[in-house]
Amino acid sequence: MFPIFVHMIDQSTVARIFDSSEISEVVSDFVTLKKRGVNFLGLCPFHNEKTPSFTVSPAKGIYKCFGCGKGGNSVNFIMEHEHLDYVGALKYLAKKYHIEVVEKELSPEQERQKNDRESMMIVNSFAQKSFTDNLHTNPQGIAVGMGYMRERGFRDDIIKKFQVGYCLEAWDAFSNSALDSGYKKEYLVKTGLSIDKENRLLDRFRGRIIFPIHGIAGRVTAFGGRILKKDAKAAKYLNSPESEIYHKSRILYGIFQAKKTAVQNDKCFLVEGYTDVLSFHQAGIENVVASSGTALTADQIRLIKRFTNNITIIFDGDAAGIKASLRGIDLVLEQEVNVKVLLLPEGEDPDSFSRTMGASDLMAYIEKHETDFIVFKTNLLLKDAKDDPVKRANLIIDIVHSIAIIPDGIVRAVYVRECSNILNVDETVLYNEINKIIHKVKQDTWKKDQRSNLPEDQSPQTLAENSAFLRSANECDLEERALVRTLLNFGGEVLFSEKDEAGKDEQMLVGEYIISELVSDELESINPLYKLVFDQYGENLKNDSFNSKTFFRDHSNEKVSQLAADILSEPHQLSGLWTRNESVIESEEMKLKEIVPKLVNEYKGKKVRLLMKEVLQEMQKAQETRDSDRMMELMQQKMVLDKIKNAISKELGGRTIS
Ligand code: CTP
Ligand code: MN
Repeated sequence: MFPIFVHMIDQSTVARIFDSSEISEVVSDFVTLKKRGVNFLGLCPFHNEKTPSFTVSPAKGIYKCFGCGKGGNSVNFIMEHEHLDYVGALKYLAKKYHIEVVEKELSPEQERQKNDRESMMIVNSFAQKSFTDNLHTNPQGIAVGMGYMRERGFRDDIIKKFQVGYCLEAWDAFSNSALDSGYKKEYLVKTGLSIDKENRLLDRFRGRIIFPIHGIAGRVTAFGGRILKKDAKAAKYLNSPESEIYHKSRILYGIFQAKKTAVQNDKCFLVEGYTDVLSFHQAGIENVVASSGTALTADQIRLIKRFTNNITIIFDGDAAGIKASLRGIDLVLEQEVNVKVLLLPEGEDPDSFSRTMGASDLMAYIEKHETDFIVFKTNLLLKDAKDDPVKRANLIIDIVHSIAIIPDGIVRAVYVRECSNILNVDETVLYNEINKIIHKVKQDTWKKDQRSNLPEDQSPQTLAENSAFLRSANECDLEERALVRTLLNFGGEVLFSEKDEAGKDEQMLVGEYIISELVSDELESINPLYKLVFDQYGENLKNDSFNSKTFFRDHSNEKVSQLAADILSEPHQLSGLWTRNESVIESEEMKLKEIVPKLVNEYKGKKVRLLMKEVLQEMQKAQETRDSDRMMELMQQKMVLDKIKNAISKELGGRTIS
């Protein structure tokens, strides 16, 4: 959804907004900043802290918290702080600086889609109001609907907060009233509120309690309807069908009502159903969302991640499906969030359990009983396996897969130690298995990278999904990151100058040198974010007004701008000697001549060694399968790598650049 929105504001307006949005001015609307040297310092608004580690650098145009790691440009700050999307943040800043936003004209197809979505939202809003109205004022609604909610013990304030409603028990009462009020049949059907049966509109939710499903901004995008009678034939819940405004896999029930508290408490609970969410609120816990009975998706995790990195999944005490859903939770680990699990006592679900005690007891219970996901999974499977050696072996493989997914090496190490204890297996055995898996993923990614042209696919989702994992999977991460850091900080500096044939001075800039070295040897990063930086730097080499710092810092792709902010806020550590002391930087720039070629060669050397290893392995395979075409191809690759290798060793042996 990101790229479409980006193009709705024209580029020159976007540039004006970025130019006007002075970072310390933008931040100080929310954070009290104190001057500290060239920077400003304050208490981080994104995590709880008592001593300030939130730094704003007007010179670099970025903020960075050295406590929680969040950082970025002015637009990133507003996105993060106000929970807005990219365009929303641009509009916010435009308003602050009195810049008129010229929205690009939409194509007729885009115009139609936008109108369609808006019309569907409007119909939903009408439906929500009329269902809610029924529950509170219609005699049948009061008797049947409200009667049911009361019987279940839901308080009025909770019913109102979630805009719970009731759809009358009649074939077409709702549809007719909507048509009478001027709403179009097309949108009643598209939203799924009405079902078109031989040209008669029937009410999908007739006779059901209605739970409106709110999007992140609080608008109603869909409904869930619960049946009241015990009817074996009809489904307990009916939900709105998928539509242009409702994608079940991307929304979580309760996110609108949960987001504020989720940020404040830096935590979010995940339950299964509508009534679980309501009951938690009634018990005083507001940071709770429901997956609505479906398997968790990566999009849903990302939704929670906009507010907090800490998720506790609450399982019913008798959920038969726990084991089945474990696999799904593995995907949560990939998103770099901290997952805990709480298993409720036998026979309880969050709804029933939260009614047995007050808010503080409930919180205390959760804090005491929630366990780390991998530990939980290990114990659960271990109980099952007992002493059966085959089951135990499978269990270890299973757990090791979960651990291997975790992008952060340090976090992985903690789990390895813990699981080695629980399973009574040597840490090295676990590491061996993990490394095998990581190696395989890396190889697959490399192959995919070779085959498909990754820069084409720059959707933030793809980048987000891959970048975290790839940083740890990428054996050249350190070297490549150093190159990116050098490009951003010193790309425009003169590296050396030479006389050309005509005797004129020719300058070579740091950026030109790095990019041309990578391009001539066809070396690419397996990390799509770095690759994007190298590629786009290359495309802009001939562009005189190109400023690598602001170009990447203000990049429309949030992942890229955040990478830039991260890197720009790192000390200029091109070599181990260099410190954060600003006065040293002067001499760092003097050293560019020495250090840049060294960095490039170190990177090339490492990359070539890695590629060579893979080529040799592949040759071995080709040998075994007697695949002569493949063998020829590989021998060619090997020759290229040999050439680069020779060139590097020559360079290291002799030539220095002056
Ligand atoms: N669900 C669904 N369709 C069904 C059954 C369940 O969409 N036929 C979804 C609903 O979002 C529901 C969730 O799965 O909230 C959990 O199901 P369940 O535990 O059966 O319902 P509860 O939320 O506990 O509802 P209640 O307490 O009213 O029984
Ligand atoms: Mn229930």
